[in-house]
Amino acid sequence: MNRVFELSNGKQIPCIGYGTWQIKDEKTAIDVVKKAIIMGYRHIDTAAVYGNEEAVGKGLHAVDIPRENLFITGKLRNTKRGYQNALSEFNNTLDKLGLDYLDLYLIHWPASWHRYADWEQINLDTWKAFAELYHEGKIKAIGVSNFMQHHLEALMKTEIVPMVNQIEFHPGQLQKETLEFCQNHRILVEAWSPLGTGKMLSNALLVNLAAKYDKSVAQICLRWCYQHEVVPLPKSVTPSRMLENLNIFDFEIEEYDMDQIDRIPYFGGSGLHPDEIDF
Ligand code: A2P
Repeated sequence: MNRVFELSNGKQIPCIGYGTWQIKDEKTAIDVVKKAIIMGYRHIDTAAVYGNEEAVGKGLHAVDIPRENLFITGKLRNTKRGYQNALSEFNNTLDKLGLDYLDLYLIHWPASWHRYADWEQINLDTWKAFAELYHEGKIKAIGVSNFMQHHLEALMKTEIVPMVNQIEFHPGQLQKETLEFCQNHRILVEAWSPLGTGKMLSNALLVNLAAKYDKSVAQICLRWCYQHEVVPLPKSVTPSRMLENLNIFDFEIEEYDMDQIDRIPYFGGSGLHPDEIDF
């Protein structure tokens, strides 16, 4: 259950994480984070913009588990890009979570040419703050989220190459170019909305494969991520589904079926594109 991948700096990251996107209600967030850890999740993913950092922090602290056994990810909100902003916003995140370090901190979305003439410089300035916090030991690994190759290129020339890129990744949204670019440069890919925000659950091919492997469609999606060496971050507030989503290590999808899943055309997802977002 607690298998790990290794990041380019040698730090280990659990192969599956618990996503907290869209869990806004405080009581629910505290409760599900607590349950997730008790169930066996060791990797919890949150973000400033989710508005639940305090609740996630309370959930973490409600369980008696050594801090070093947990892997906690935070993300910098888009309105706080830039060097100084990123430094102070990171401290707000630590305070809200009640932690003294993060395992992973990500730039949530790239500044893009669509909105900013100096988008590359904005990303570089933000990255400089991340590198500084990393050197100070306040973050054990640093990375980005929703970056495509053209967003990543400027950062690749800096002293620290991003260790992680968290992107929307699920059957029907393979993002092959981004995946290959990252994997060729030892940037571990994480999958947000690995079930396509739940839309993949009714896909006919996946339903058939679920029957073939005697698994649920969700487990097929998550196992497909894992076999691509991508870390899925499923979100569920339903305990039975949370447990189901953890249990993906006792079967293997055959190569032919992996290939068929890779070829599923776009079937739905968030609909968000990194160069088109206006938030
Ligand atoms: P819920 O939170 O009510 O359990 P994604 O992670 O791709 O964004 O998908 C999240 C959606 O998928 C949520 O609506 C969640 O519902 C649902 N979901 C998560 N895990 C499962 C599962 N194992 N089976 C069915 N639906 C699931």
